[in-house]
Amino acid sequence: MSVFDDMLKSDESLFLDEVALDYSFIPKLIPYREKEQKHIAFCIKPLFAGRNGKNIFVHGYPGIGKTVAVKHIFRELEEKTDDVIPIYINCWQKNTSFKIALDLCEKLGYKFTFNKKTDDLLDIVINIANKKSAVFCFDEIDKAEELDFLYTLLERIYRKTIILITNYKSWILELDERIKSRLTLEFLEFNKYNEPESKGILKNRLRYAFVQGVWEDDAFDLVAKKTYELGDMRSGLYILREAGNAAENKASRKINKEHVETAINKLNEFNIKKSTDLKEDERFILKIVKENSGKKIGELFEVYKQHGGEFTYKTFQRKIEHLGRNKFISLDKKLGGKEGSTTIIKYAQKKLDEY
Ligand SMILES: Nc1ncnc2c1ncn2[C@@H]1O[C@H](COP(=O)(O)OP(=O)(O)OP(=O)(O)O)[C@@H](O)[C@H]1O
Ligand SMILES: [Mg+2]
Repeated sequence: MSVFDDMLKSDESLFLDEVALDYSFIPKLIPYREKEQKHIAFCIKPLFAGRNGKNIFVHGYPGIGKTVAVKHIFRELEEKTDDVIPIYINCWQKNTSFKIALDLCEKLGYKFTFNKKTDDLLDIVINIANKKSAVFCFDEIDKAEELDFLYTLLERIYRKTIILITNYKSWILELDERIKSRLTLEFLEFNKYNEPESKGILKNRLRYAFVQGVWEDDAFDLVAKKTYELGDMRSGLYILREAGNAAENKASRKINKEHVETAINKLNEFNIKKSTDLKEDERFILKIVKENSGKKIGELFEVYKQHGGEFTYKTFQRKIEHLGRNKFISLDKKLGGKEGSTTIIKYAQKKLDEY
């Protein structure tokens, strides 16, 4: 008997097109984000009439469609016109002015970048962009280590819209005045999806990704509920895929609740595995944040001390910043409340596509 005997034959897969579950897949429709997309389109609109566009600051929690909404608009722009050039840059991957300038050149089709300095590269970008109009999206802008490039683009490109995306609304508060006053931003907040919306989005994906009828209703309901609880659509896509895999491993023709539970457990394990990359003291602090999500940093420090933590407040603060930069937690700075400024710390579902 072959070891493969009790597995499904490949043409009997439960998956129709697994690519549709990739985090970077851009579906034809982005439901529940029409209003947000219209707002962004409104900022770009003046470019079609040869005027300067508006700039926009997009913020909101992880995994709620900020990136996909913008990429979807960019795709439409590419299909509709050659006069407005959309350029998307992820500042997590490209976090210095040099890397960004290089990426901008490459995306504009300029190849002779070898040995050129940041300023030379930006000159080239400006030259090309000024022949038409351009929409720049700098995603994860809080990860950019310097913003000189932004200043240059603002000063020297005539017809543009700049879209900045981040999880942290407070990022804007610390922005250099020189840049802030030139940006004159529109603000756009993405809110979390409610339960029916989460369900609707996953249901759409189901149609692309799985053979019709393989999902049992209560199994799918469980995925939707869990996704809503976690507030991050990436987790939902992950669970859909892993539940499908779990069912296939068992040579099952249907995906049931048990397969979903296996997938959910895997999701939890996955996160723990990743946080083991942290140092022990950081893991200890992360655990405290997890158990006390939503508290102010000062309150967290008290809990930390009560549990035997020995760092000074300054060091604790640095560790918190480190966890925040790595997206294990979110830091929401609140300025000028009753007791002065403070930071609210929340446990964050680590993104799943960074590994
Ligand atoms: N309304 C929607 N319709 C279809 N897919 C969606 C929708 N919202 C989110 N998704 C999907 O969920 C995943 C996460 O969305 P996205 O990458 O846009 O999140 P984000 O808000 O940019 O998160 P982060 O702040 O962590 O970067 C993507 O795979 C995306 O395609
Ligand atoms: Mg994103």
